[in-house]
Amino acid sequence: MVKNYEEIYRKSELYWGAGPSDLVKRFAELAPTGAAVDLGMGEGRDALYLAGLGFTVTGVESAQSGVSKCLGIARKKNLPVKAISADVRTFPIPKNRYALIVAINLFQFLTKTEARNVIDRAVAGLKRGGLFVCESFTIDDPHFKAHKKKSHEISPGTFRDSSGNIYSLYNYGEILKMACGGQIGETSEAKLRPVYYSEFDYYDTTHGPAHWHGVVDFVGKKL
Ligand SMILES: C[S@@+](CC[C@H](N)C(=O)[O-])C[C@H]1O[C@@H](n2cnc3c(N)ncnc32)[C@H](O)[C@@H]1O
Repeated sequence: MVKNYEEIYRKSELYWGAGPSDLVKRFAELAPTGAAVDLGMGEGRDALYLAGLGFTVTGVESAQSGVSKCLGIARKKNLPVKAISADVRTFPIPKNRYALIVAINLFQFLTKTEARNVIDRAVAGLKRGGLFVCESFTIDDPHFKAHKKKSHEISPGTFRDSSGNIYSLYNYGEILKMACGGQIGETSEAKLRPVYYSEFDYYDTTHGPAHWHGVVDFVGKKL
């Protein structure tokens, strides 16, 4: 379980904003039609957007308040979103089912082994031509230096803070390697062909005081 999202989502305003994330907005329509999953959906901004595009959406979120908020909006807007309170680390993803699986700003809250396991199961869960879309934080994120100083580094780039929360910052190319295999261009049947990959610094003005992030964006297609 992660910091105080349970409490944050109980407030009436939308913490992550009403519109979809930039990455999902940009790439969702490249996916085939069908079923989609939003892993760590928060208040469901992407899940709701995808339902509006015609995907049959399941949203998975550990904070019950986020799930309830998403379901409330879905009801009001008459959007068919199935929102589930569950842990992405154990949530079963049926094989070859989904047109689109998104995980926006989730993997920083998992150990890298857990993230890899979720990615492997997401890849297996995509149907041929399906897209996996994810965003997380790199070692250029200011959290990296802060955690190096004050948290326990349990494995390279993964920290446990004094409250027991896990925080992972991804090295250059690490997510790409997890999703696509060893070498760029070298893909196995189980992995993804990279469609888009970027590591960049981002000045975030969407919530709280403006702040910088080191961001990694990845979009891959199931071959
Ligand atoms: C930074 S927020 C992003 C929310 C949403 N994807 C968005 O972009 O608006 C990360 C979310 O992942 C959820 N989360 C973290 N670890 C999780 C886990 N193991 N299982 C399910 N949800 C989790 C958190 O509760 C939080 O809502």
